[in-house]
Amino acid sequence: MSDLKVAVIIPAAGQGTRFGGDKLGQDLGGRPLLLRTVELFTKRDEVSAIVVAAPRESIDDFRSRYGAQLGFHGVIIVAGGRTERWESVRNALAVVPNDCTHIAVHDAARPGANDALLTRIFDAARVAAAVVPGDPVSSTLKRVTVETFAAAPDEAVADAILGDAGRESVRGRRVESTVDRTRLMAIQTPQIFTADVIRRAYAQSDLAGATDDAMLVERLGENVLVVEGDPRNIKVTTTADLAIVRAILGHRAPDERPAHKRF
Ligand code: CTP
Ligand code: MG
Repeated sequence: MSDLKVAVIIPAAGQGTRFGGDKLGQDLGGRPLLLRTVELFTKRDEVSAIVVAAPRESIDDFRSRYGAQLGFHGVIIVAGGRTERWESVRNALAVVPNDCTHIAVHDAARPGANDALLTRIFDAARVAAAVVPGDPVSSTLKRVTVETFAAAPDEAVADAILGDAGRESVRGRRVESTVDRTRLMAIQTPQIFTADVIRRAYAQSDLAGATDDAMLVERLGENVLVVEGDPRNIKVTTTADLAIVRAILGHRAPDERPAHKRF
């Protein structure tokens, strides 16, 4: 028995707009991505309840696709918010059992989390009321214009390079400034909070603009502890991310597997 009694909320109600379709239903080594994510938590002693927020518009379809397997793990399914992630988390919070000491939130779209990361998060939750994993930003960051421009003909370049091939089609944004990346962290999930802190965070009147759960805790004026994340814990946002996650987890795409192993 663990001293922690954690309820895990898994927001899975997004539209996958940037992916261009149902990213959570994509094959990951013969199983849907969503189930891979849920199963990160089903074998942990600390976890006593799991709530998945499903797409409101297609919840019947969601239940028929995943209901049996989620039910087998005792997962509770609720309808999420149509557009905002925080609406999905808020709906899930409403059904979290009252005896949970802590509530963690983990994006369904992050199947690349692993046991070592979960252990770090749970250990930190024993000493801090709000914990998030972060990965130091290693890229140079620049703020750019909203608009794209056709690249303006630059005399020096034009003189040096003969021919007009492709020149007209070059478009890009203009750099406005370079952002100092010192102390900047890319924040991941799972994020974990005492049940009291996250309930107070979500009881605030204005939740708009929250892109993660810790932001709402920060608005309460509570401290948030950042612990070491994992660069492999990427959020599947585009099809390129799915290819990266498959490579990291060592799963081949269905069409790259021998036919008898595809299903
Ligand atoms: N999510 C949710 N409810 C919403 C929006 C997002 O539960 N109204 C979930 C997604 O299903 C995902 C996680 O929050 O697991 C992170 O969101 P994101 O990666 O942005 O996924 P989508 O919103 O589906 O993608 P997009 O923004 O490209 O439409
Ligand atoms: Mg989204």
